[in-house]
Amino acid sequence: MTDHVIDLETPLKFAYWVPNVSGGLVVSTIEQRTNWEFEYNKKLARIAENSGFEYALTQTRYAASYGADKQHEATSFSLALLMATERLKVISAVHPGMWHPGVLAKFIITADHLSGGRAAVNIVSGWLKDEFVNFGLEWLEHDERYVRTEEFINALRGLWTQKDYSQSGKYYNITDFTLNPAPLDIPGRAHPEIFFGGNSTAAQAAAGRTADWYFSNGRDLEPFKDNIRGVLAAAGQGRTAPAAPRFGLNGFVIARETEKEAQDTLREIIAKAHKPAVEGFAAAVKEAGQSTKDGKGMWEDSTFEDLVQYNDGFRTKLIGTPEQIAERVVEYKKIGVNLFLTGYLHFQEELEAFGRDVLPIVRELEADLARKNGTELRTDLLPVTGSAAGLAGANA
Ligand SMILES: Cc1cc2nc3c(=O)[nH]c(=O)nc-3n(C[C@H](O)[C@H](O)[C@H](O)COP(=O)(O)O)c2cc1C
Repeated sequence: MTDHVIDLETPLKFAYWVPNVSGGLVVSTIEQRTNWEFEYNKKLARIAENSGFEYALTQTRYAASYGADKQHEATSFSLALLMATERLKVISAVHPGMWHPGVLAKFIITADHLSGGRAAVNIVSGWLKDEFVNFGLEWLEHDERYVRTEEFINALRGLWTQKDYSQSGKYYNITDFTLNPAPLDIPGRAHPEIFFGGNSTAAQAAAGRTADWYFSNGRDLEPFKDNIRGVLAAAGQGRTAPAAPRFGLNGFVIARETEKEAQDTLREIIAKAHKPAVEGFAAAVKEAGQSTKDGKGMWEDSTFEDLVQYNDGFRTKLIGTPEQIAERVVEYKKIGVNLFLTGYLHFQEELEAFGRDVLPIVRELEADLARKNGTELRTDLLPVTGSAAGLAGANA
């Protein structure tokens, strides 16, 4: 098993879910002042990069399903957001079964050049069987999906870093291929970053061997330690990527002036859940964690309440006052979380408020934590936040 070095010097990183899918991030009839279209998202991305967010994650969904009636395609939407921003890194979710790794590698290189090195991918292995079957594509059994995913990531990395790259495998065969240009040479990264979303044992193992970042659904503190252990155990056995993976965790944020207000909002979201949509989603996600041999994985034991937020985001409990949320976030840093992927009810207002009210407390607590452990928080690594002028620009 790879040693788990808890990095107290590097500031936590923050990302947000791009709402490129209609219906917001909770399957509820509660008011959500969030819009899936480009103009809203362009403004949101600019607010985000001016509020201390380093990353945005665009979702991939092809078919109307469970409250998400309309969707914008992830890679093209991500590129548009990159073109509309200056510092934000945009991570595009992609399914191996839908793309050839060479085509994706080429697309991302172009996005990387157009954006000054800000393109990244989140490799997801899929759960929505109908998307594949109705497209006439093969729907692989659960663990086999990760065999393909691993080959896919090895191909991406190989094509991004080597000339005359060859790989022969069960799913992809590539012969003497050189992609020109290569991705930009950016200090601190070997190539565009490869995130990996998944929770099952097979997902942890594949991520541990291949990914730069392991992304998980929302989890409480103790259970998330198991994910970290699972990923690092695999990283110790035949990892094909250079450094050990870092850890990103999903959390749905409800920050309010009082804890009661925040909890009342959570109760209202759940009370107004769109029952048929949540139940339909619950049935479809049985293709994920529950379909595995050990029954472990994403949504394996999610309750109806959990599933009202697609990615178990309530379980991370970023719900309360800004102080309470900041304290909770730093508890996760202590166990090895490096990045938070956040979602909100009213994205533009709440994401900006998170940057204004929660992040300064997080930074203070991180600095205290580092000092108590005989080190210093690397404030030189903090993302540049917006000036008043920058934020005014966000409204353009
Ligand atoms: C952070 C994160 C983001 C994800 N994004 C998507 C997505 O955009 N589209 C998709 O179809 N699945 C997405 N997934 C789900 C994965 O495709 C996969 O179905 C899920 O991890 C369940 O598999 P598992 O039980 O093997 O963990 C995401 C998962 C995580 C953790």
